Amino acid sequence: MTNDDEMAFEMALITRAAAVEALLRRLLDDRALSGEITRPDRLMAAMRHGVLNGGKRLRPFLVMESAALFSADGEAALRVAAALECVHCYSLIHDDLPAMDDDDLRRGQPTVHRAFDEATAILAGDALLTLAFDIIAGEATVLPAERRAALVLALARAAGAGGMVGGQKLDLEAEQAPPDEAGIIRLQAMKTGALIRFACEAGALIAGAAAEDRERLAEFGSAIGLAFQLADDLLDLTADASQMGKATGKDAAAGKATLVALHGAAWARGQLSGLVEQAHELLEPYGDSALLLKEAATFVAARNS
Ligand code: IPE
Ligand code: IPE
Ligand code: MG
Ligand code: MG
Ligand code: MG
Repeated sequence: MTNDDEMAFEMALITRAAAVEALLRRLLDDRALSGEITRPDRLMAAMRHGVLNGGKRLRPFLVMESAALFSADGEAALRVAAALECVHCYSLIHDDLPAMDDDDLRRGQPTVHRAFDEATAILAGDALLTLAFDIIAGEATVLPAERRAALVLALARAAGAGGMVGGQKLDLEAEQAPPDEAGIIRLQAMKTGALIRFACEAGALIAGAAAEDRERLAEFGSAIGLAFQLADDLLDLTADASQMGKATGKDAAAGKATLVALHGAAWARGQLSGLVEQAHELLEPYGDSALLLKEAATFVAARNS
């Protein structure tokens, strides 16, 4: 891979982020949809604060790029991407709550409970989670009904008790009783990996690709999902808040169970390159069509924000 590939990835990330943000803005409009009664102003404002506030939009990129790999419909992929970003943003709003990581800064701005209040932040998260399923199930996502149902199911499994939420629970419990390496890997595969795995798998589901392709993309997602949290934990140790747009140096103080805490930064960097290599190999069968996805894997490990 060359510098040109890296530039192409950066351009594509920006272009795809702009498209998903424009759609998210429309989806978070104050006007009630058919079947809804009214959308309270302050709730909608809090939801927009938690979503339309920057963010790398990496998960939407992975949905759209994995869909493009199988020549899936771009509009449907954009809607699934927006739905997943709603789940991700809800997870961040709740992750930052005083009862969880207790953070005041997110994406360079006050967290939702700081800008509004705790109850509003909880409800904004709840409504974003629900909205995600509304977006995928809705008829504006022009896909055969069974594909929409498969996407709803896969996202529910990735987001719920055996996925992201379960991982958040294990993460909090681990502050009291630190798990071993396998335990940390499992909790990270859940709290962070599951949504990233879904992002990559979603492209195959949208396209109705073969089971083998779906599995390959899901494995790719698992590898970069682990790499993503490893990089996040390294950045918590090495980066500053202005660079990250969120507080850093908190994991050690909070007694978070991370591989960086267990094995040190040098070991973690070695693991990161191994995971990126593994991710690249998984995409070999797709040749040059997978160049941007491969660059995304490189970016996950090398990112500095
Ligand atoms: C932060 O995710 C939460 C983790 C899973 C570590 P991102 O680093 O993707 O956050 P944004 O969306 O770019 O703000
Ligand atoms: C969060 O992990 C994973 C989520 C499901 C939100 P972190 O707690 O490390 O994420 P940051 O560092 O607050 O973004
Ligand atoms: Mg957390
Ligand atoms: Mg946190
Ligand atoms: Mg972190």
